[in-house]
Amino acid sequence: MKVFLLLSALLVRAAIALPGPAITKRSNTSLPVAFACEALSLAFKAETFYPGSVNYTSENEHFWTPTDYSAPACVFTPKTQFQISAALLIFETFQANFAVRGGGHMPIPGYANIDGGILVGLTDLNQITLSSDKSYVSVGPGRRWEEVYDFLEPYGLVALGGRVGIVGVPGLLLGGGISFYSNQYGFASDNVIAFEVVLASGLVVEATSTSYADLFWALKGGGNSFGIVTRFDLLTYTSPTICAGIGEYPSTEKTAFLSAVANFGQYGDADAKAAVIPSIFMLASLNTTVYTSALFYDGTECNQPALVNFTSLPAIANSYGPTTLATYVSGTDALIADGTRQVFQVISSIADASALEIVHDTFVEMVTANIYGVAGLQASVAFQPVTKNFIQQGINKGGNPQGVDITKAPYFWMVENFSWTDPADDALINAFAVNVTSVLEAKLTAAGQQAQFKYMNDAGYGQEIFQNYGAGNLAKLQAIRTKYDPQGIFTYLMPGGWKVATA
Ligand SMILES: Cc1cc2nc3c(=O)[nH]c(=O)nc-3n(C[C@H](O)[C@H](O)[C@H](O)COP(=O)(O)OP(=O)(O)OC[C@H]3O[C@@H](n4cnc5c(N)ncnc54)[C@H](O)[C@@H]3O)c2cc1C
Ligand SMILES: *[C@@H]1O[C@H](CO)[C@@H](O)[C@H](O)[C@H]1NC(C)=O
Ligand SMILES: *[C@@H]1O[C@H](CO)[C@@H](O)[C@H](O)[C@H]1NC(C)=O
Ligand SMILES: *[C@@H]1O[C@H](CO)[C@@H](O)[C@H](O)[C@H]1NC(C)=O
Ligand SMILES: *[C@@H]1O[C@H](CO)[C@@H](O)[C@H](O)[C@H]1NC(C)=O
Ligand SMILES: *[C@@H]1O[C@H](CO)[C@@H](O)[C@H](O)[C@H]1NC(C)=O
Ligand SMILES: *[C@@H]1O[C@H](CO)[C@@H](O)[C@H](O)[C@H]1NC(C)=O
Repeated sequence: MKVFLLLSALLVRAAIALPGPAITKRSNTSLPVAFACEALSLAFKAETFYPGSVNYTSENEHFWTPTDYSAPACVFTPKTQFQISAALLIFETFQANFAVRGGGHMPIPGYANIDGGILVGLTDLNQITLSSDKSYVSVGPGRRWEEVYDFLEPYGLVALGGRVGIVGVPGLLLGGGISFYSNQYGFASDNVIAFEVVLASGLVVEATSTSYADLFWALKGGGNSFGIVTRFDLLTYTSPTICAGIGEYPSTEKTAFLSAVANFGQYGDADAKAAVIPSIFMLASLNTTVYTSALFYDGTECNQPALVNFTSLPAIANSYGPTTLATYVSGTDALIADGTRQVFQVISSIADASALEIVHDTFVEMVTANIYGVAGLQASVAFQPVTKNFIQQGINKGGNPQGVDITKAPYFWMVENFSWTDPADDALINAFAVNVTSVLEAKLTAAGQQAQFKYMNDAGYGQEIFQNYGAGNLAKLQAIRTKYDPQGIFTYLMPGGWKVATA
């Protein structure tokens, strides 16, 4: 390790000493960034890419939505954690701005990419290995959830991660992670038993419940303020076959649908193996609203009382049936259109029928009145029911920084989701998303239905995340950040993402 740091320090000095023409100032790049890119390419030629190269383009476009494409000065794709240590030294030496990207699924521009800085793409940190006793799987941050599920399937095992397979492993875990298995086992991050992290100093450490325990706690939902995670060890669970699929119901089923959602919200704890993701889905071009729900059961018998209020609805389409997690996920991935523009917002409520009614009616009315004419518009709200047991599991497993109030559970953690096609509509949709959210929150608060927690991974720019974590947890996160990154490398040199220091 030390050798790597020394070597890179020498390379950095060499770069500084090079005669002028070697340091080409490309495009609109600041001098510190130009120097850092040259130092990287001197030290790690095969891992450093400039605009115009195939790898630069594929890394810059390794995002779910084009709203996240930027103009980084160069792209660095490390193959080892030690290359990251060296790169951090280079960034610090030159005070060069950078961004870190895993699966690229957080749809907030600038949160995992950067204009005029260095994009660190974790694509090649792609280890995936099962422990000899099969109790945990070690996964690199270059992996997506579908790859984890595919890898585990032959063993009859699963790990907790995205309900959509193309989502990246690292971002989901650093924000918590809602899985189909969360009602049984908590946040996906509650099921991480070790994080390998490159700290701001360049030191590579392993954080567990007994070693760097404060850092371990912080990484279970504190985001990217603490270091770059290069390996996650995830508990595995036996779940060789499941029941899963998506039901789609006509707009005439509004009342029955919302009642099924409300009941699941309230009584979902009765069978923690069941999970649903019910959504309102407005398809503007077809002038129609439909209701959908992903339905899930961890078991082989699909006819389950816990889901009957959904399975008994008259459906336009219904794919619920026996499958495996890997098969289900690869099937739904195929349905997800790439390339549309996206924005999310979160709201949360206690699990009550009147909250659903407020959100449904206000959302549909405001979308119809304000943005229905936007090209390619799809507007949806997903009601994610969160049971008491979900929260209890996190407490049992040592606690997490989210510190969700269990006394008010169960909850709905809702995500509003807008997609459209023309960049010219970005400003309108962004403004509308903020407007409708503030109206919904005001109405929920007035009705005594508002809940405090806001889930980071589904949030929109400017929403208050850490401020709504459990009491005292923001201050704790800030202290841990100061301890492990006193200079604020991951706060100021890496400006993208939700930051505890500036919350
Ligand atoms: C279609 C879709 C479906 C989704 N489904 C779910 C779901 O089922 N459950 C759920 O909980 N969430 C879901 N999400 C939300 C998802 O969890 C977040 O978007 C998450 O940030 C994605 O992780 P990523 O690695 O792809 O993100 P990225 O955009 O690559 O990164 C997100 C943030 O994490 C930081 N980061 C990434 N890697 C590292 C690292 N190794 N070390 C330090 N910081 C890092 C980045 O800097 C960035 O700020 C979904 C999102 C989409 C778009
Ligand atoms: C270059 O950067 C400056 C300041 O950051 C900005 O004002 C200018 O518009 C940029 N030019 C281009 C071509 O991007
Ligand atoms: C870079 O490109 C080469 C081939 O051109 C490819 O094999 C490699 O996987 C790419 N690396 C990244 C990080 O995209
Ligand atoms: C959309 O549907 C509603 C009824 O659901 C109808 O009143 C309205 O006229 C329709 N709008 C268009 C443009 O067809
Ligand atoms: C189904 O709905 C009925 C009322 O319509 C309710 O009594 C029951 O608890 C619901 N079942 C579940 C599992 O939500
Ligand atoms: C948001 O909507 C898009 C399509 O409109 C869909 O592909 C995606 O899965 C949705 N995401 C969430 C988190 O609901
Ligand atoms: C947002 O709300 C403000 C104030 O009510 C209003 O003036 C504006 O037109 C709204 N914008 C959008 C896009 O809905």
